[in-house]
Amino acid sequence: MKEEVINKLKKLASLIEYHNNLYYNEDNPEISDAEYDNLRIENIKLEKEFPDLVLSNSPTKKVGAELTSAFKKVKHLVPMLSLGNTFTKNDVQDYLDKTRRFLQIDNNTDLEFIAEPKIDGLSATLIYKNGQLIIGATRGDGKQGENITENIKTIKEIPHYLSGKFPDELEIRGEIYISNSEFEKLNFSRVKDSLPVFANPRNAAAGSVRQLDSSITASRKLSFFAYNWGHISEPIGNTLVEIRKFISELGFKLNHPVELCSNLEQMIEFYNKLYQNRSSLDFDIDGIVYKLNNINFYDRLGSTDHSPRFAVSHKFPAELGVTTLNKVKFQVGRTGAVTPVAELKPVTIGGVRIQRASLHNKDEIQRLGLVIGDTVSVKRAGDVIPQIVSYNPKLRPKKYKNIIFPQQCPSCNNYLEFEKEDTIIRCLNHTNCKEQIIGQLIHFVSRNAFNIDGLGEKQIIELYNNNLIREPADIFSLASPTERKKHELIIKLPGWGKLSLSNLIVSINNSKEQTIEKVLYSLGIRHLGLGTAKLISKNFNTSKDLINRILNINEDNKKYLINDLKVINGIGEKAIQSFISYFENSKLLFTNLLDHINISEFKLRQDTSHFFFGKRLVFTGKFENLSRTEIKNKSEQFGALISSQISSKTDFLVVGLKPGSKVTKAKELDVDIISEKDFLSYFNSLL
Ligand code: IVH
Repeated sequence: MKEEVINKLKKLASLIEYHNNLYYNEDNPEISDAEYDNLRIENIKLEKEFPDLVLSNSPTKKVGAELTSAFKKVKHLVPMLSLGNTFTKNDVQDYLDKTRRFLQIDNNTDLEFIAEPKIDGLSATLIYKNGQLIIGATRGDGKQGENITENIKTIKEIPHYLSGKFPDELEIRGEIYISNSEFEKLNFSRVKDSLPVFANPRNAAAGSVRQLDSSITASRKLSFFAYNWGHISEPIGNTLVEIRKFISELGFKLNHPVELCSNLEQMIEFYNKLYQNRSSLDFDIDGIVYKLNNINFYDRLGSTDHSPRFAVSHKFPAELGVTTLNKVKFQVGRTGAVTPVAELKPVTIGGVRIQRASLHNKDEIQRLGLVIGDTVSVKRAGDVIPQIVSYNPKLRPKKYKNIIFPQQCPSCNNYLEFEKEDTIIRCLNHTNCKEQIIGQLIHFVSRNAFNIDGLGEKQIIELYNNNLIREPADIFSLASPTERKKHELIIKLPGWGKLSLSNLIVSINNSKEQTIEKVLYSLGIRHLGLGTAKLISKNFNTSKDLINRILNINEDNKKYLINDLKVINGIGEKAIQSFISYFENSKLLFTNLLDHINISEFKLRQDTSHFFFGKRLVFTGKFENLSRTEIKNKSEQFGALISSQISSKTDFLVVGLKPGSKVTKAKELDVDIISEKDFLSYFNSLL
């Protein structure tokens, strides 16, 4: 047992050492911060449990990595420590309890903390003598850093001479970082120069500061936030609030936003607020730092080998993870688009286990330059599908496989079509390709479509695989009391029972009444979103009219329907093409569906009393009293139909200032012409 623990501690020490070196010296981490933190936490836990087995070279006794730099070393006058980490509200509470116990302050007395962002850059210390910058250095191993004075002097936000009053000897500490906007610019120009891009702003800042040629550092537009101090020849304030003011008056930029908190709730509120709003900052932050406001406590509290007790960091869940690209699968969407999806060695990013990431298209894979087996950085932002950001060329395996794009559909073997210079690949076998059909059925039952409770992706796949559904109409057949055989089959499927079946039958029956626009949208026609479906349906007098037009589509008369769709304002060519070709190919599917459902009329149609109800209007010219959009919205509210082109079916052409050729066309077709003023007075008097 003892030996096992020692071995584990040794293994952890060497792993942490290895990753320290990559992070601090090579600026090229292989694992995410969260994974690194986990190693350290595991080590601390083991050391706590077995205090007599702590190794002499334990990572808890060191800060950062041993130096391997070409720069001269500088011994820090006051050690540059790291911060203790907390991850949860409970951890922060524990830290507060411990601090109170340490200082013997009871719960009734407030302890004030400044909460501020933890910037993800690299720390630096600046030594001023009589107000002049003498030395600028990195943290290094915490005891000694690298002398990077020349490079530091190129950073505009670092004063060479201090303003105002200052102690003779003053050491200011803070974080060198690169703003997100500068980071984007830097990487953009590196791509142009065929140089490898920096994986993140931290690496870019670290790489820029440790250049032997300071003109390179100067070109990188680095920034600096002051947040701490080292050696001082006389006190500079009694509270952090005072000291921040003092440091700012010397000519430094302070990190922001900050808040003075007097209890745990306020600290957590600040943390949550900043976590949610962090994207609005122009710099990366990886958590919050809570620091005691009362400086007199600092000496009393002292520090561990690793970190001072006056402050603690509260880390955000890491959003970037490093893992292996195991495979690229090609997925067929409901409209036939074939997209690459990365299958990853599972990794936890920001508390979420990630095994797949989106790769968008061929362009994206080429841009990233990926091969199978690569070690990749994966980003997870909120609920967005995780994305591969980059790969580590140094870790590319000797034997690897290229990502080969299929020529045939992975679902139905049909030959694929390549669109837009080959970046989009599509399977055109819309009516027979299994994955497309399943995708369409999943869309059909989804929340914005028929919204059938109890039918999700998993159930649809199961019902399809058991030959119970092939098209939307089949879903409604399932609810028929005569389909006993199907019911018996469903009950036997894993996860199903009598109750879930009867619930499903109820929700299928409840979904039978739908408006025509919902039905059109539910079919999953390409380029036909809910908005377009609504526009189309509104432009036909009744749903029946539209359905009849659809059911009667044939080669000879489709041009008339196309023309009627073309005049609808807000419907593009693509949507029209796709609409027509869908019904040319899938008319039977639509008629089958109509046998099972009831189409209710569009709500607006019920208010038929308004003069403009059902009237076809075309607008031209500039309007004086209302914006075009407002005028259109108003008329649509009362059931008017807005078209973009004049046809013999147009009821009124409403003209504003400087009308175009539409007036002539209206005259030719004998369409009534009214002015903006007349239109508005008609409109308002008839309300
Ligand atoms: S105070 C004793 N304040 O985080 C260290 N550090 O993980 C006192 N950091 O080494 C540092 N933002 O490089 C402090 N607002 C902030 C910070 C901050 C980033 C860095 C700093 C430190 C590391 C510890």
